[in-house]
Amino acid sequence: MIRLPQLRQYKTEGQPFSCLTCYDATFARTMQAAKIDVILIGDSLGMAVQGHTSTLPVTVADMAYHTQNVVRGNDYSLIMADMPFMSYATVADALKNATTLMQSGAHLVKLEGGAWLAQTVRLLVQGGIPSCVHLGLTPQSVNVLGGYRVQAKTLDSAEQLLADCKAVVDAGAALLLLECVPTQLAAEVQKRFSVPVIGIGAGPHCDGQVLVMHDMLGLYMGKPARFVHNFMSTSKSIEAAFSQFHQAVKTGQYPRPEHAFNIELPPL
Ligand code: KIV
Repeated sequence: MIRLPQLRQYKTEGQPFSCLTCYDATFARTMQAAKIDVILIGDSLGMAVQGHTSTLPVTVADMAYHTQNVVRGNDYSLIMADMPFMSYATVADALKNATTLMQSGAHLVKLEGGAWLAQTVRLLVQGGIPSCVHLGLTPQSVNVLGGYRVQAKTLDSAEQLLADCKAVVDAGAALLLLECVPTQLAAEVQKRFSVPVIGIGAGPHCDGQVLVMHDMLGLYMGKPARFVHNFMSTSKSIEAAFSQFHQAVKTGQYPRPEHAFNIELPPL
């Protein structure tokens, strides 16, 4: 059974771990068979399941429903549930909505942001709710960012991201998740902080790797993102594709350099 202490041990031992998004019991059961370490009930379900063009329409009730479905199918993986758009705008909202997701069966919640989340992270952990802070490309802020783009490409923005990581780790964040940032910056975050760091489009040096399930099964519309690999193209079954992803992460075969954003930054 995978829980937070196991992920910390993996980090200490330098053993990468696998994470996939999942939204229902059947896929959760299949991920258990494939020994996927962490399941994320991502608000990407807004696109992958509900057919929206962003994660913004997803509600706490949607997240609770899908979390309940996933936990019925899997008692092995660590279960992380996304706090959806504007569900943690105030500390009171965060406490109330994170409680709903924990009571739905999650082991921790994920929030998108930076240093401004420090007080929320502190109060959540004091109340018994561990959290993962998602930085870099934060899809709930797509309208502020102006699109789904690589983040922290300049020295100033990379230093800002490091300062954000420090603030939330000091406040008690259990995990960090970096999306679409330069490989060099993700490597620095992995080295600088003791908490496990999960990456997506963040290069090979993160402690864990996450992909959206539909993407790694080749079920994307249009052109897939640079970091996506279709594991179904070389697998005979969905369980085999999940196992292949797990093994590729564990053995360092995924992600490869072509999946990463190798943008050179000055020394950090
Ligand atoms: O919602 C989601 O699927 C995510 C991943 C992209 C990390 O947050």
